[in-house]
Amino acid sequence: MAQIQVKVAQVDAVKIGADVLAVGVFEGAMSGLGKNLGGAIASLVKLGDFTGKAGSSVLLYTDGKIGAKRVLLIGLGKADKAEIDTLRKAAALAATKAVELKAQTLCVCLHQNCEHFDAAITAQAITEGLYFGAYRFDEYLSGDAGKNKAKAVKAIIVDASVKFVSAAGKGVKAGAILGEAQNFARMLANRPASVVTPKSLADEAKKLSRQVGLRCTVLDEKQLAAKKMGGILAVGQGSANKPRLIMLEYGPAKAAKNAPAIALVGKAITFDSGGISIKPSEGMQDMKFDKSGGIAVLGAMRAIAQLKPKMRVMGFIPSAENMPSGAAYRPGDIVTTYSGKTVEIQNTDAEGRMILCDAIAYAEALGCTRIVDIATLTGACVVALGQKRAGVMGNDDALVEQLKAASKNTGERIWHLPCDDEYVELMKSKIADLKNTGGRWGGVCSAAAFLSQFVKDAKWAHLDIAGVGVWGADEGAAPGSIGFGVRLLTQFVMNAQI
Ligand code: BES
Ligand code: MN
Ligand code: ZN
Repeated sequence: MAQIQVKVAQVDAVKIGADVLAVGVFEGAMSGLGKNLGGAIASLVKLGDFTGKAGSSVLLYTDGKIGAKRVLLIGLGKADKAEIDTLRKAAALAATKAVELKAQTLCVCLHQNCEHFDAAITAQAITEGLYFGAYRFDEYLSGDAGKNKAKAVKAIIVDASVKFVSAAGKGVKAGAILGEAQNFARMLANRPASVVTPKSLADEAKKLSRQVGLRCTVLDEKQLAAKKMGGILAVGQGSANKPRLIMLEYGPAKAAKNAPAIALVGKAITFDSGGISIKPSEGMQDMKFDKSGGIAVLGAMRAIAQLKPKMRVMGFIPSAENMPSGAAYRPGDIVTTYSGKTVEIQNTDAEGRMILCDAIAYAEALGCTRIVDIATLTGACVVALGQKRAGVMGNDDALVEQLKAASKNTGERIWHLPCDDEYVELMKSKIADLKNTGGRWGGVCSAAAFLSQFVKDAKWAHLDIAGVGVWGADEGAAPGSIGFGVRLLTQFVMNAQI
């Protein structure tokens, strides 16, 4: 994992020495640049090689004409479409290129025409982007490939104004906390299922809790049985790697121990083979990412412990491995969940809801009044929304709005879908209280409707991240997990402070 440090400095971008100076350029704004580069930019514009299109970039060599050895122009797209996430993405691209170039110093000058954005928020987004782009999943590379493991990068956000620089410090600090938390989540999510098991994930959660000051409790299979968590146990019973319920608690110094808390609940299936209802082999390797929701909660709790909001927050991470074996749960089984409700299993591949329903009901039993769960829950969500938006559903429109507001800041986009009584009907069984599949159509909504039946009075919302957690190798950044949800859940909690 490439290390990056981010600072902000009041300096002239043209004078500062650096391996790379990254400059943001809006579409059609090229003419204002390049007085110091002796025609290099003019030819670029004339040849039409770079227009400032979002996601594009071009590298120029400065031959000593300015302080930096290279200038990296980064396209920001159309100025009137610029959002805070435009800067985050541009910073990620700058860091990606800097790591590729083995640069040790990277100066970033991306925001110079974005003065209408708040300085701290700007600096935070750029810092988050820099961390994002510097990340590499290289811990398993050996030999020649291993020699190219990314090295630490020193990044400096440069600006000529004292006002910007003094306001930006706070944002850089928050951005570093979020960037580190997100890369921590990506590292865990990318590790294979042979390494990340429910038990080893629980050990990581304990280690993290010691480091950042969270309380951590783990229920093993015996304790899960004592608490009658039939859903988590059923899913986990087919694997040699036994299930766990990992719980993390953040309590600010002033909050009473029994003050109502926010619960973040994340699905951590360390590998989803489908179980007896086994999945086709094509693409099954990606089911190591089926732990991404739980890991997003772990990453968010890490950031929350460092950002210190005013209210109590509890993280619940039910974790199991869904495997076929002589001990596995079967289609036709009837499972009694923690809530007392019974569920007829129609498909052992609809396992996420079986572990979440226990964790959600337990969160409410422990006094959580607002519950947000996050899960790679349904292929139907990927069909409905593709890979650019997560689904959000819930029993409380205000809570959904709060998540949408957080999402606007963090750039992790979400789309509201229904999960009302009409969908609940699809989940009713003739021989048990519920069944775990709802038929062919609207699977994203019926899965959420199933979960809604395990909430009593709490406000609850559900994020289906099946489509958004992973990037293909061809999309520029490091292949694998993008840590979707770490920033979103953290921002939601920070906004929810009373
Ligand atoms: N983990 C999968 C959902 C998934 C699919 C995540 C594709 C990421 C990419 C989940 O456990 C699952 O298998 N869901 C089933 C539910 C069905 C059997 C009702 C699905 O979506 O096919
Ligand atoms: Mn499944
Ligand atoms: Zn799954």
